Amino acid sequence: MILPIIAYGDPVLRKKGKEITSAYPNLDALLDNMFETMNTAYGVGLAAPQVGLSIRLFIIDTKPFSEDETLDKDERAFLESFKEIFINPEIIEETGEEWAFNEGCLSIPDIREDVLRKPLIKIKYQDRDFKTHIKDFKGLAARVIQHEYDHIEGVLFTDKLSSLKKRLLKGKLANISKGKISVDYKMKFPNLKKKR
Ligand code: CO
Repeated sequence: MILPIIAYGDPVLRKKGKEITSAYPNLDALLDNMFETMNTAYGVGLAAPQVGLSIRLFIIDTKPFSEDETLDKDERAFLESFKEIFINPEIIEETGEEWAFNEGCLSIPDIREDVLRKPLIKIKYQDRDFKTHIKDFKGLAARVIQHEYDHIEGVLFTDKLSSLKKRLLKGKLANISKGKISVDYKMKFPNLKKKR
């Protein structure tokens, strides 16, 4: 089932997600729905707050990046099959020199901006069976994880822009929250004005 993606301006995107346990109800169905929702919108990651749930969970499938011919062969091969569920994640460290990448977000359609992030991360998380892993990621895989991780901390990529950029985007962001945007996937807008 495709879920509506919560648009910029909804308070759920600003909450810090709560940890979950294996007793969380209907987790399999939620994960199936999240993958279907993300794939239909051609996203590479989706966090639970983006479907209205303030919990520490996100999913990633970087396959769409594997067609990017500007990436080197090894990274493309990795991104082709990088599909993972992150439950109760905790970024342990981020290292290296910050690099810029043009990010977008399914909750903020039509806005893409360069964001600086560190290239190497170490993350601890649980998989679907609540087994704990500690793994290192780099490059674009790390980038997508950092973006999704921010979502469960209540942070959006637009928060990381310069104050000038933020001022320039203010009107556009307000329009997104009101649903004044054309988007080809299902969304829920917090400030949508009902037509009388
Ligand atoms: Co996002």
